[in-house]
Amino acid sequence: MHDFNFVNGELFCEEVPLQRIAAEAGTPVYIYSRRTLRDHYRGLKEAFSGLPHLICYSVKANSNLAVLSTLAGEGAGADIVSGGELYRALKVGMAAEKVVYAGIGKTAEEMAYALKSGILMFNVESTTELEALDRVAGEHGTKARIALRVNPDVDAQTHPYIATGLKEAKFGIGIDDALAVYEYAASLPNVEVAGVHQHIGSQITQVGPFRESLSIIGELLQRLQEKGIPVRYINIGGGFGIPYRQEDVPYPSDYARELEPILKESGCTVILEIGRMIVGNAGILLTKVLYRKSTGEKDFLVVDAAMNDLIRPSLYGSFHEITPVLQSEREDETVDVVGPVCESSDFLARDRALPHTEPGELLAVMSAGAYAFAMSSNYNSRRRAAEVMVDGDRFGVVREREAYEDLVRGERAWD
Ligand code: LLP
Repeated sequence: MHDFNFVNGELFCEEVPLQRIAAEAGTPVYIYSRRTLRDHYRGLKEAFSGLPHLICYSVKANSNLAVLSTLAGEGAGADIVSGGELYRALKVGMAAEKVVYAGIGKTAEEMAYALKSGILMFNVESTTELEALDRVAGEHGTKARIALRVNPDVDAQTHPYIATGLKEAKFGIGIDDALAVYEYAASLPNVEVAGVHQHIGSQITQVGPFRESLSIIGELLQRLQEKGIPVRYINIGGGFGIPYRQEDVPYPSDYARELEPILKESGCTVILEIGRMIVGNAGILLTKVLYRKSTGEKDFLVVDAAMNDLIRPSLYGSFHEITPVLQSEREDETVDVVGPVCESSDFLARDRALPHTEPGELLAVMSAGAYAFAMSSNYNSRRRAAEVMVDGDRFGVVREREAYEDLVRGERAWD
């Protein structure tokens, strides 16, 4: 599933020992395996090869240019949510005609940028956005291809912060209103109805919710046919979950096998907007233990990575496996792994059984390729970590560790 493995008691990424990367690039550092990225992308492609399809990598999961260029090289398109993500995708040569643009708050400026770039389509999330897009397209003398993001009101059974397919979510157009909004879209002069879109949540670990939502969307497609508004694309969103603690999750082939009949019947080209499943287990965060500390109540390992580097444990209570980079015979102990940030919520793991670890040792925080560096910040004026890409027996820094000057770029001490 990934290329981070122990060889003679030492953790490697592909053919490179992580110790070597730490020595050259310092810590904390994110490390990505190009081979894993490619394998995951190819696995998805292979699974859906029985259907006309397009895989649009969800840029928000990890937008590093080296990740994007690796996937662009494989033929991937992009699922974007901002002008900034479009800029990144185009910068690495991703084909604009493979870019789909979702999000509930696209500005007129972002719409114009995407239209001028010639993206495949906008996933429109409200009637007001539809009207704005029609206006902007008119001003630029062009037509905007669209899908409506339909909210099917299904429970994706994932963390509430990342469930998006229920009625109370801010996303999409309610399934009961969808037909009327399609009719309205079809009547607008500068909009071309091309598809239907859904995204029901992230880190979903069952196929069931997809089956349920797609059968609801299948009914909508039939009614659109009857109304003379046929669509050519069905975008099933992202959300395929990954194992964070070696749990069983469906493989791409499981999704494909179960969803193929419904998707085939639609007669549409299928779009997948996958982020986490491609990049999540293709990356780790490497951190160094600074201190051991005990309050009597608890034992702590203070490491040099913090919530500003990886916020998932603090924000969602997410579990990331942590392992020393060097294996040896030692007792387990129960510790909190915490960072230097001034917040009690700054932890990478709580009450975790880990082999006894001394200051100076390296720890690998696993499954940190998705929503990890991408959600990092400069909180506490901490410089963001370096990022490294590994390819076989070579590696390169693909984002430099920030310098102090980077922290104040654009600021002035105004008086
Ligand atoms: N399409 C849309 C419209 C999305 O909003 C998302 C993710 C995706 C596709 C990709 O989903 P994926 O295949 O990666 O599950 N920060 C959270 C995850 C937020 C997901 C946001 N939307 C986390 O760390 O778990």
